[in-house]
Amino acid sequence: MEHAPQFNKQAVRLESRAVRMLLTQLRAKETTQQAFVAAADRLCSMLAEEALALLPDVQVDALITTPCGSMSAGTIVCPPDGDIVIVDIVRSGGILQEAVRRVCPGAGTAKILVQRDEATALPSLPYSKLPPNIASKNIVLCDPMLATGGSAMMALGVLRAAGLEDERVVFANVVSCPEGLRRLATEAPGVQIVTCAVDAGLNEQSFIVPGLGDFGDRYFGTYGYEEGLWGCD
Ligand code: PRP
Ligand code: URA
Repeated sequence: MEHAPQFNKQAVRLESRAVRMLLTQLRAKETTQQAFVAAADRLCSMLAEEALALLPDVQVDALITTPCGSMSAGTIVCPPDGDIVIVDIVRSGGILQEAVRRVCPGAGTAKILVQRDEATALPSLPYSKLPPNIASKNIVLCDPMLATGGSAMMALGVLRAAGLEDERVVFANVVSCPEGLRRLATEAPGVQIVTCAVDAGLNEQSFIVPGLGDFGDRYFGTYGYEEGLWGCD
């Protein structure tokens, strides 16, 4: 598997046996919807913690007192929930948004509905709703799939229009590919990315290969790959 910084200096890839185990379940064609939901929720919880640890206002090397002494080197203190806004690129992003919210129940939330046209893979923006004062917040932008990068760029456009600087955004993602990572490196170099996988690339339908198919459809059970819509066998 590729390393994320090769395509985007701001990207990190989570690497552990547990991440690989859960990704394997998500990728396998025979995984049932129920098993997909369970594996996705477990993996998104791990991703949520990693995204929080990358937020711009985390305090690194902060002095803390343990029951037996004190330390500062290597500590990371998360900003308070009230300084965090979790942004969902509707619909699949909502799965990841809820995983972050389980960890930070007091965080604000925002919804940006970006729809990728199945024929052209081009995104459109029917709806968005942001909380006030978002420009000063720490943003976790949630979307499990980064393919062409069109949806992520459209969501970033909404955040920029609200006065937010890219440097305040951590993009949390399950499966990425070189095309999407490179696009963000060029068009949004200030955005940090945390992903669980960097796959080989895109097929003719702009689906990630080998990928896992359509994340939202598999999680919500809206259709099956036997229809051939993902450009897979
Ligand atoms: C999927 C996914 C991303 C987008 C990625 O959304 O959740 O938002 O595609 O593709 P891109 O990088 O080429 O834009 P989709 O529009 O299929 O909606 P869904 O979440 O409802 O499945
Ligand atoms: N959206 C998905 O859910 N999967 C892909 O492979 C690409 C976009």
